[in-house]
Amino acid sequence: MQDMTFVLFGATGDLAQRKLFPALYNLYLDGRLPENISIVGLGRNYCSNEDFQSKVERAVQAYSRRTVQPSGLQDFLSKFRYCAFDVTDKESYHHLHELIDNREIELGIPQNRLFYLSVGPSLVDVITSNLNSSGICQNNGWKRLIVEKPFGSDLETARQLNKNLSKTFNEEEIYRIDHYLGKPMVQNLETLVLANPALKSLLDHKQISNVQITASETVGVETRADYYDKAGAIRDMVQNHLLQLVMMTAIYLPEKITANEIRVKKMEIIESLRPLLKENAYKDVVRGQYESGDIQGTPVFGYKEEPGVDDSSKNDTYFAARLYIDNPSWSGIPFYIRTGKRLNQKSTRIVIEFKNNMKDSDVLQGLTPNLLILEISPNESISLRVNMKDPSSNRFEPVWINFSTNSESLPEAYELLLFDAMLGNATFFSHWKEVELSWEWIQPLLEAYQENLLPLYSYPAGSTGPEEANQLLQSKQFKWW
Ligand code: BG6
Repeated sequence: MQDMTFVLFGATGDLAQRKLFPALYNLYLDGRLPENISIVGLGRNYCSNEDFQSKVERAVQAYSRRTVQPSGLQDFLSKFRYCAFDVTDKESYHHLHELIDNREIELGIPQNRLFYLSVGPSLVDVITSNLNSSGICQNNGWKRLIVEKPFGSDLETARQLNKNLSKTFNEEEIYRIDHYLGKPMVQNLETLVLANPALKSLLDHKQISNVQITASETVGVETRADYYDKAGAIRDMVQNHLLQLVMMTAIYLPEKITANEIRVKKMEIIESLRPLLKENAYKDVVRGQYESGDIQGTPVFGYKEEPGVDDSSKNDTYFAARLYIDNPSWSGIPFYIRTGKRLNQKSTRIVIEFKNNMKDSDVLQGLTPNLLILEISPNESISLRVNMKDPSSNRFEPVWINFSTNSESLPEAYELLLFDAMLGNATFFSHWKEVELSWEWIQPLLEAYQENLLPLYSYPAGSTGPEEANQLLQSKQFKWW
C-alpha cells in the first residue's frame, strides 16, 4: 500500500470516535495501514495535537473491537495531527495545505491525499470547492474523496451534489461510502454462489418463491431528530442500505468477474427494478411511525414525544415494500424489504424462501418451506431450514443447519472500507449511477409522501411494525420471516 495523507473532516464527531479511529487502530494492529501515513483531523474548535491524540486514544479504548495493546499505541497516535478548521474560511485551507505539505516532507511521503468527509451533507459542496480553489487538490500524486451518506435528499439534489463534486474529483476518485457494503456477510454475497457449488444448485431461481430483506432496529431516533425528522426511514435506510442489499442479493455471480463488472451488474439490477407509480404506490409500500411502547422491558416514548421531533411530525420510522426485478433471472419473484426503528429486535438479514409444492399434502404433514437465512448483523450466520420427520408423531418438524462465525474476530465494516479506499479499490462503494438509479426509483414515493397518497400507519414500539406490512405478503400467502 502506498504512503499517504489521510485528512478527516469532522474529526471530533461521533462517527470518528465510534467507528473511524477504532477502524484505523485495528488496521494498524493488522499491519494494514501504509508504512508511513500522516493523519490530519479537522474540527471546529481549537485543540492541541497532544489533546487530539488523547482523544483518539480514548475513542480507541472505548470502541475498538480488540483490546488496546500498550505496545505500538504511541507509534499509532504519533501519526495524528490536528487543525482547527472553519470550512468556509479560506485561511483554514491555507493552514491545512501547509500542514499537509510539511508532514509530507517530514515523513518523506508522496503527495497521495485521501479526504474523508464525515460532516453534514450541507457542508460537502463548500468543502470540495474550497479544496479545489486552495490548491490542496493540485497535488503530485493521487487524490480520493470519501463521502458519507446521505448523498442528496432527492433525485435533483443528489444530481446537483454530484455535479458539484465532479468539478474537483472525477468518478474514479469519489468513494461514496455505504457501510452496509462493508459488512463481511454482504461482501460474501459476491462470491457465495461461486465458492459454493452446492449452493449454486440450491439457489436455482426456479426454486425460489420470494426473498425478504429486513433491517430492524431497537433504537429510536436518539439525538438525531434534526436530521432524521427530515430524512425518515426512506432516505436514511432504504435509498442506500436496503437497495444496496437488494442489488447484492440479486447479483448472483457464478463466475469471478472484475470490480468494474460487478458494479455494472449491480446497475443492471437496479435498472430492472420495476418502477412504482406514485398513484399506486400504496399497493406495494407501507410506511409507519412508532408510538410509545416497551423495548425488552423498558418503556419508551413514541416518536412524536422524542426530543427535537415536531409533535405533528408525519415522518416515517418504518418502511416496507414489495419489489420486482424485471430481468430473466428474477422475473416474477417478489422481493420484500422492510426496515424500522423501535422494533422488537436488532437484526439485519436476508431470507430466501423456497417453493413448497407439497405443503398441502395429507401424507406429509407439517411441512414448512425451506429457508436459507443469511444473518448479516449483529451476528453473522448462514442457516438452512429443512424438514425432518419426528418418528413419534410422524409429522415433519423444521430443523436448522447452522453455521455462524465469531463476530468479534471479524473486521468491522469501516475497517474493510477504509482499507479498500486507501488501496484504491472501489468495488464496495456506491457508483454514482447506482445512487442516481436508486433515487430514480425512490422519487415517486417521495412525491406520494408529499401529496398524501401513502398513509402513515402507527405501530407500538417493541412490535414487528404496522400490521398493514403483513398484508403486503398475504396476497401470495407468504409471511415475514
Ligand atoms: C445508519 C443510519 O446509516 O445506519 C442509522 O443513519 C442506522 O439510522 C444505522 O441506525 C444502522 O446501522 P447498523 O450497522 O447498526 O445496522
